[in-house]
Amino acid sequence: MSRKLTGGFATRAIHVGQEPDAHTGSVVPPLHQTTTFAQDDIGVDRGYVYSRAKNPTRANLEQTLASLEGGKYGLAFASGMSALSTLIMHFNAGDHFIVGENVYGGTYRVLTQVFQRHNLRSSWVDTRSLEPIIAAIHPETRAIIIETPSNPMMTLTDIAAVAQLARDRNLLCVVDNTFMSPYCQRPLELGAHVAFHSVTKYLAGHSDVLMGALVTSEDDLAESLHFIQKSAGAVPSPFDCWLTSRSLKTLVARVEQHSSNALALASFLDQHAQVDAVYYPGLPTHPQHELAARQQRAPEGEPIFGGMISIDIGSLERARTFISHLEVFTLAESLGGVESLVEHPAIMTHASVPREKREAFGLTDGLVRLSVGIEDIDDLEADLATALAALD
Ligand SMILES: Cc1ncc(COP(=O)(O)O)c(C=O)c1O
Repeated sequence: MSRKLTGGFATRAIHVGQEPDAHTGSVVPPLHQTTTFAQDDIGVDRGYVYSRAKNPTRANLEQTLASLEGGKYGLAFASGMSALSTLIMHFNAGDHFIVGENVYGGTYRVLTQVFQRHNLRSSWVDTRSLEPIIAAIHPETRAIIIETPSNPMMTLTDIAAVAQLARDRNLLCVVDNTFMSPYCQRPLELGAHVAFHSVTKYLAGHSDVLMGALVTSEDDLAESLHFIQKSAGAVPSPFDCWLTSRSLKTLVARVEQHSSNALALASFLDQHAQVDAVYYPGLPTHPQHELAARQQRAPEGEPIFGGMISIDIGSLERARTFISHLEVFTLAESLGGVESLVEHPAIMTHASVPREKREAFGLTDGLVRLSVGIEDIDDLEADLATALAALD
């Protein structure tokens, strides 16, 4: 097979699923913005019938996603939450999941307020060590769902250890890899069965596409997921797939820049008198820094820590003052786009998590989350410095 398809991560990000068009030579594969496909005779098609089931532009993207996560099968969905919902629909009423207690608020909401009504139950545990996970396993348990680093507390879970436990107990290990992207962390290589993404974030990368993905190498699971994908139909538009394929070509350059900017800003914030705590796995002071350096690695092996930082600045009032003085960072939900964003998890992204639960894992009213973009580092640091000075 061509080196373009088997080469390094950056080469595959640009070439897998992106063969020039066979008919015209167009270097960029055409956008198949169609719902249906002409058939040669009744029941005789050319591999494509109806875009909910399969579309060439989506198939190209799904190939790239699978290659980058190191899996056999990639499936794209209309959002991260619809990717997760499709995965949950694979299970049966009565089944049970063990889920990290500190995952994205929407994951908590869909599992507790939607799927629980269908008798799919979840236990919420601290996944920083194996004991609480082992204690929560019972005969109906089918999967362990983790997010690492977690959103927004940046706590880590040892993927290899949880995946091994899952394999020993005949469970699936599912990893939300949104915060890292496959450039920084590849859960399947560490033994997980499924990598799950809000593609909306680093993979699409420009805050203009809402999308999700699942990647797996499990044949039976992939067959079931494909069936649910076409049956329940939470698929992305061909245009969004085309845009995301375009974005993936620059994933390496973008994530390198996000990560180096974030490391510099985390070090700056860590030294700042107005900041009570900095949560960034790349700092040697992060309690799980050693695990981060082992697990979060660029494909060539160098540790890389991503673009997300959370800071605690003491109170809601101080958080409001700080945020209102930022100019380069925009106040908005979401993350992973080229532009820097700031948000207040307790009131914004994690409002659906009950206060007692939030506070139990440190998600206080003084917590602010930064999605560090790829602007000039001097401008980002000056922006934070000015806003922190307003707290004096
Ligand atoms: C870690 C994580 N997982 C899943 C999701 C859900 O993805 P989407 O918003 O694309 O549905 C998000 C969204 O913020 C997220 O941050």
